[in-house]
Amino acid sequence: MNKKTVRDIDPSGKRALVRVDFNVPLAEGKVTDDTRIRSALPTIQHLLDHGGAVILMSHLGRPKGKVVPELRMDPVEARLAELLDRPVRKLDDCVGTEVEAACRELAPGQVVLLENTRFHPEERANDPAFAAQLAALGDLYVNDAFGSAHRAHASTEGVAHAMREKGGEAVAGFLMERELEFLSRAVENPERPFIAVLGGAKISDKIGVIERLLERCDRLLIGGGMANTFFQAMGFEMGDSLVEEEAVETARQLLKEGQSRLVLPVDVVIADAFPEGEPVESRVVAPDQVPPGWRVLDVGPKTITTFESALGGARTVLWNGPLGVFEAPQFAKGTFALAKALARLDATTIVGGGDSAAAVRQSGLADRFTHISTGGGASLEFLEGKSLPGVAALSDKDGDE
Ligand code: 3PG
Repeated sequence: MNKKTVRDIDPSGKRALVRVDFNVPLAEGKVTDDTRIRSALPTIQHLLDHGGAVILMSHLGRPKGKVVPELRMDPVEARLAELLDRPVRKLDDCVGTEVEAACRELAPGQVVLLENTRFHPEERANDPAFAAQLAALGDLYVNDAFGSAHRAHASTEGVAHAMREKGGEAVAGFLMERELEFLSRAVENPERPFIAVLGGAKISDKIGVIERLLERCDRLLIGGGMANTFFQAMGFEMGDSLVEEEAVETARQLLKEGQSRLVLPVDVVIADAFPEGEPVESRVVAPDQVPPGWRVLDVGPKTITTFESALGGARTVLWNGPLGVFEAPQFAKGTFALAKALARLDATTIVGGGDSAAAVRQSGLADRFTHISTGGGASLEFLEGKSLPGVAALSDKDGDE
């Protein structure tokens, strides 16, 4: 990565304005999964250990430019203070005179957490004046929010320019660096055989990723709802299954291009209703045997075996998207079997954020994976080959700016 990182700067006596992705799940006012908070700790700790003060900022949910009390950062503050084992002062806004005063007074070793940046419509609009107000709070900017790096928002993109305009550095944190390193190695220079596994509901979200991976991987295994659109393209009747009609032609094209490298499910688990908490009637059939009124909700046992043998000998595996509706235990077998199969491999195993990362954590096997991305949308856009605005705006290493 040709971008400066926290290793390239001296934070001593400085106030580091750090964009983190603390967009974490909440229930009853508590953080229910603190992975994203834990993942930012090395950067925060490094800045504190090297004599800096830290001003953290993040969005939480999608409050649409208004104050939504349930999306205040207080639960994050509580969890962060526990994990850091030091006090964290949470402010009631992310800009304004009170915030400026609080940040001005910061001493080395102190930590402040700003209020949800998306309470201001200027955040998503990437408003330059708002970005300058944010930049004014610190002496340097660190972006460790890989999960939000695909957003060109004021706190991820505009602020980096504003900071550099006023003579401050804008650098990547350790999490950002690690994410980019693993994901780029997988697509640029993987140890082979390199096998990609893609699942999830929709093919339309991942067409760019499928195309790019097909060019680079030795095999591409497809599961989840997106396989249905491929089956439809093969002329199968899919009953009530989720099929994206508008993507059928693309699927047909991909089948032609992918030929021997694409591996599709050989059997599927179907149900005659969608599970809403209660188990529903289900059976295993071949993909071309889905009766009217039934829908595909998981891959079947033969597919699990097929995928396991396709993965045998892999040296690099990249997985994005569950193989079934894994939130319902009845249709989670394929996804968890895949997690188990990957955990057993002697290979670099990378999970691209979102639902598949949640599934790996639920499986209890997270520590058996090489890298689990904290970014869902961000990892997809990166794998697709798109430039991430939150990274592009940072200071270059070769200093040609
Ligand atoms: C995520 O959870 O993927 C990131 O925090 C980005 O959130 P967003 O999709 O609301 O921009």
